[in-house]
Amino acid sequence: MATKTYFSCQNCGYQSPKWLGRCPECAEWNSMAEEIFSNNQPVRGKSIISDMVSVDSPQRLSEIRTKDPLRTPTKIGELDRVLGGGLVKGSVVLIGGEPGIGKSTLMLQASEIISRERKVLYVSGEESLNQIKLRAERLGTSSNNLYLVNETNIDRIIDYIKSLKPDLVVIDSIQIVYSPEFSQTAGTVTQIKESAGCLTALAKSIGVSLFIIGHITKEGFIAGPKILEHIVDSVIYFEGERRSKLRILRAIKNRFGPVDEVGIFSMSHDGLKEVKDPSGIFISDRDRPEPGIVIMATIEGTRPLLVEVQALAAPSNFGMPRQRSMGFDFNRMALLIAMIEKSMGLNLSNHDLFVNIAGGVKVNETASDLAVSVAIISSFKEKPVKEGLVIIGEVGLTSEVRSVSQIEPRINEARRLGFKQCIIPASDAKELKPSSNMELIGVNNLREAVQYALTNN
Ligand code: TYD
Ligand code: MG
Repeated sequence: MATKTYFSCQNCGYQSPKWLGRCPECAEWNSMAEEIFSNNQPVRGKSIISDMVSVDSPQRLSEIRTKDPLRTPTKIGELDRVLGGGLVKGSVVLIGGEPGIGKSTLMLQASEIISRERKVLYVSGEESLNQIKLRAERLGTSSNNLYLVNETNIDRIIDYIKSLKPDLVVIDSIQIVYSPEFSQTAGTVTQIKESAGCLTALAKSIGVSLFIIGHITKEGFIAGPKILEHIVDSVIYFEGERRSKLRILRAIKNRFGPVDEVGIFSMSHDGLKEVKDPSGIFISDRDRPEPGIVIMATIEGTRPLLVEVQALAAPSNFGMPRQRSMGFDFNRMALLIAMIEKSMGLNLSNHDLFVNIAGGVKVNETASDLAVSVAIISSFKEKPVKEGLVIIGEVGLTSEVRSVSQIEPRINEARRLGFKQCIIPASDAKELKPSSNMELIGVNNLREAVQYALTNN
């Protein structure tokens, strides 16, 4: 049998006859891996997909009757929120996350709840049935309609699905599923593409919903993520720090619902528990205010969330000061540091600077600029910010404070959690009515914010 060797990018699937240090398609370094193809290998994923494409002639948009997708709530509120109200019949959802974050636990819990009313098949290639049973007992699950199988061969998995006809299938995980018709090992782009393609085509043709678990490597990508993201209907990431109990479920693609919506869980000894009122959970209780700590109100999806920004500025011992950020964009941090130096006349260059968002949360919005900047200055000057104060605002390069979206829900949330004062952009403050139990301090620039926040009560 004639064979050919290709190098496939494990990130995006780009193929090249030669090895390359950097993928020309997605610019990922060191992602090319050797894969051997025989000339007469069938491309089955494609044929299954073409079978199910209807040959109807084009229709007028106005003549197409819409119907709402059939949704089954998983009854795990935080998961349903991220899915857009429940699991859609025939839809394929990719659950990505680092190993050990709790993907299997969440899926087993969801499977159990769904199996009280429908048939569920849990395909695990990673853990033995015995291990899963032990875990299920720990989670208190004992449903009669939950089927488990330990299998990694895609053909047999498809046979099981066809004969059992479940309403939901969980594949744990896609990286260990393989097709015997391809010589590549499980986990390579070819195998992942083939398995996910076949499973997706099957799900669509027989109307079974599918959860596919995919591991993300430390660098933050699932092997073959780009291909998987295109194949599946929804992509959900499970994030959090392994040491902390909090876990965040985040939709980054959703054909049947909103993106950017998050679900929040806490990992306990008997499984994941929903955190229904998450605001405030990321803030630690302190007896007295400490330098470098600032509370800000961010928006996650549609939900306001109070988070704690921590900054540490410490004189660096070596000639090379370090800068690190966790949960906040590093480039944005570097930009804010340069802006602080210039506008406040501070020399931060001989200090190590660290920014961290407590509890493993990631804050991606510019509305957190002001809180991060004040936190850095507060640590540098070793002066805590006032107690009961929340800081919200975007900061421009000339240190002007710019307005942010959805200011009212943020302020309301801060008020609800007992905060008394809120520093906000002056332009937003002008449009808001004064409120009796929340003092709003409108600021035009960073200097005004620092002056107010770091002055003793
Ligand atoms: P797991 O779901 O196996 O992670 P993944 O499938 O993403 O690799 O979760 C593993 C971790 O969760 C493991 O370190 C143990 C912990 N855990 C609990 O703390 N409580 C529980 O009830 C369960 C089932 C797991
Ligand atoms: Mg697992």
